Amino acid sequence: MLKNKSFWKLFIPFTSLLCLSLTITGYFASTIIKGHHAGPLAGNQASDIKSLVVYILFAFVITGIIGFIVIKINTSPLLNITQTAKNFARGNFTGKVEVACSGEMRDLADAINTMGAELQARTQIILDDKNKLDAIMSNMREAVVTTDYQERIILINNSAQAMFGLSKVEINKDYLWEKIRNEKVCRLVRELIMSSGKAENGSRPEKVVEIEILSPGKKLLQMHLSPIQIDKVTYGILLVFHDITELRKLENARREFVANVSHELRTPIATIKGYVETLLENKETSEETLREFLGIIMKHTQRLDNLIEDILQLSKLDSSDLKMELHELELYGCIENIFSHYKEHCVKKDQTIELDMPPSLPAMETNEYLLRQLLTNLLDNAIKYTPNGGRIRLKVETVDNTIRFEISDTGIGIAQEHLSRIFERFYRVDPSRSREMGGTGLGLSIVKHIVNLHHGVVKVDSNVGAGSKFIITIPRHQPRYAA
Ligand SMILES: Nc1ncnc2c1ncn2[C@@H]1O[C@H](COP(=O)(O)OP(=O)(O)O)[C@@H](O)[C@H]1O
Ligand SMILES: [Mg+2]
Repeated sequence: MLKNKSFWKLFIPFTSLLCLSLTITGYFASTIIKGHHAGPLAGNQASDIKSLVVYILFAFVITGIIGFIVIKINTSPLLNITQTAKNFARGNFTGKVEVACSGEMRDLADAINTMGAELQARTQIILDDKNKLDAIMSNMREAVVTTDYQERIILINNSAQAMFGLSKVEINKDYLWEKIRNEKVCRLVRELIMSSGKAENGSRPEKVVEIEILSPGKKLLQMHLSPIQIDKVTYGILLVFHDITELRKLENARREFVANVSHELRTPIATIKGYVETLLENKETSEETLREFLGIIMKHTQRLDNLIEDILQLSKLDSSDLKMELHELELYGCIENIFSHYKEHCVKKDQTIELDMPPSLPAMETNEYLLRQLLTNLLDNAIKYTPNGGRIRLKVETVDNTIRFEISDTGIGIAQEHLSRIFERFYRVDPSRSREMGGTGLGLSIVKHIVNLHHGVVKVDSNVGAGSKFIITIPRHQPRYAA
């Protein structure tokens, strides 16, 4: 303490002042006492004592004022520093210590100011990091939840709240099992907490599992669980959920498609193989049988050709390149051209086919190839599923800003229970009849694909024995998306 300059700064003036006051008081006291001994007038004694009291009071007042000023000057930087340090403790780093003096108080003020600036910079870094983390967490598509070892939720992002339909979660208070009511999730988290506690040599017993949730909607999720260290003393479990519902549906659809394709290919190939083998084994086949067998082989080859053509068509539609090729197309001439090929077909089956289309038909944003595929598939079906003597009609008109195609026939019709499924790949109302006619079961799914590509709608209206009507509405101009 004795080495401290501040101490001496306070101590020296204070002691000096005290000495001064005592000296003055002593001086006045001695003067009065001397005067008292010199003139023994009893009447002056009382006034002398009074003067002595006044002098002493005067000396104390002067000492007090000077002392106050001296101490105030010496302690004000300290008060200033204390106030600034308190502000820093509250997280307010805006103020600075202003000290006019030099020496140790100056050094302390500078140290406090440097500390404030340093703290402010560090706090800013922490805040920036937190903001970054918040931004990433709230914009992530994956759902993220973190719990501590007591299973209390200590972090949850927006996706997780939406995925599990949670409106409000109190961080560090709510338990995982209170909010995510899924037995498998809670059990796995508990197991992982137990095994992480036992895990030695820093091994991290991570887990990846699939779970199904039913609320707020049925979803299939892939869940990654891993133990994490949150801070020096807190450990927890990090849960990341990916919604794989659509992915799994796609995988299943693809698997089913491959199985269907194999099945569809097997029959014609087996038939062709059987007939070719018979022909090879029987060297003396009559001309008539030979022709008959070759006819059958030809029919099945055609079936294979149709199938491969349709599969290629679908895979082409699945790739995104075609979307770029849509352009303004004059419909009238194009549709007339497509339609003209069908007249011949219908004559053979004694069917009436008519085209109802105004010459003023405006252009539409499409592509000739796609339009041909669309109409061909629908007209093929209409002709195929309409008995001899029936009627087929193609009507094209403008409705508001759309083009409406209506393909109607007086054919066998489709029962109500099949209507919702006929656009599925390989779905046929009567599979053997369709195959017999060279059908692949893919025509209407190609139609649906093309309509979707044009942001259009397809509807079907049909009655068994009375005929079917397919109505397609396509916007004349495709919506533009910002790049
Ligand atoms: N105009 C129609 N009249 C009656 N049934 C139809 C018609 N169009 C389609 N269908 C039914 O829908 C099924 C699916 O049609 P599509 O995908 O074109 O396959 P397919 O190769 O069998 O023609 C057909 O098998 C048929 O049962
Ligand atoms: Mg068809």
